[in-house]
Amino acid sequence: MNELLEKIKERLKSSRSPVILTGAGISAESGVPTFRGPGGLWRDFKPEELATPTAFEKDPRLVWEWYDWRRSIIAGIKPNPAHYALAELEGRCSNFTLITQNVDGLHRLAGSKKVLELHGSIWRVRCIECAKLSENRDVPIKILPLCECGGILRPDVVWFGEMLDENILNQAFEASKRADFMLVVGTSGIVQPAASLASTGRRAGAFMVEINPEPTPLSGIMDARFTEKAGDVLPMLIR
Ligand code: OAD
Repeated sequence: MNELLEKIKERLKSSRSPVILTGAGISAESGVPTFRGPGGLWRDFKPEELATPTAFEKDPRLVWEWYDWRRSIIAGIKPNPAHYALAELEGRCSNFTLITQNVDGLHRLAGSKKVLELHGSIWRVRCIECAKLSENRDVPIKILPLCECGGILRPDVVWFGEMLDENILNQAFEASKRADFMLVVGTSGIVQPAASLASTGRRAGAFMVEINPEPTPLSGIMDARFTEKAGDVLPMLIR
């Protein structure tokens, strides 16, 4: 790995507009379950029963119980060296963009200031009536949580079949179009539109690097791949 590491370190150092795209794999070493693969949440749970607007309409309590369980896991978890490495990198680069599909908030907890959270945050709630957003870190959360207006609060995360926040998505695409170096970390690369950010980076001519122990559908567009864990590679990459 050393020779490859030195090469990528140089690329990163000379990059003027690096973009990092992260997925559940970056939080795996902290103990947050991923979605796919061994031990993944979608092995034991059906997304259509827990992560769609229809599921919430049908049984908001069930959906909240599941989110409350996930929040209770994440609440006791700390960022790992991969999150800290990216926070440090942000401090060193002026034109750095961190895009994550994760809703766990671990990038911010590690000190990352500018994070484009494509899929929302598990620590934010939104009223289904008045759309008011607020932070809520109660663990356990009172089920059902209600807004001041009386409306039911839902987790402010993107569910299957829903649109992503347009402003955040635009910022992510704009950054990917300008990228000269793109690092794709711990994502299976199958959920759109997040995965297409990597193709956008490729088309922009970015030097593409993937960190993932498993090959993904994005592996083919990479210039380099690390098959070690994010928590091992990222701290070395920024050192
Ligand atoms: P997945 O669970 O689909 O994929 C996790 C990826 O991380 C896999 O490719 C693993 O091989 C890799 N991985 C595991 N441990 C790793 C480690 N220590 N270092 C590096 N890589 C590691 O998660 P995502 O791709 O993030 O959507 O899933 C995308 C979206 O699907 C999620 O944001 C979620 C889900 O449905 C929503 O909640 C809207």
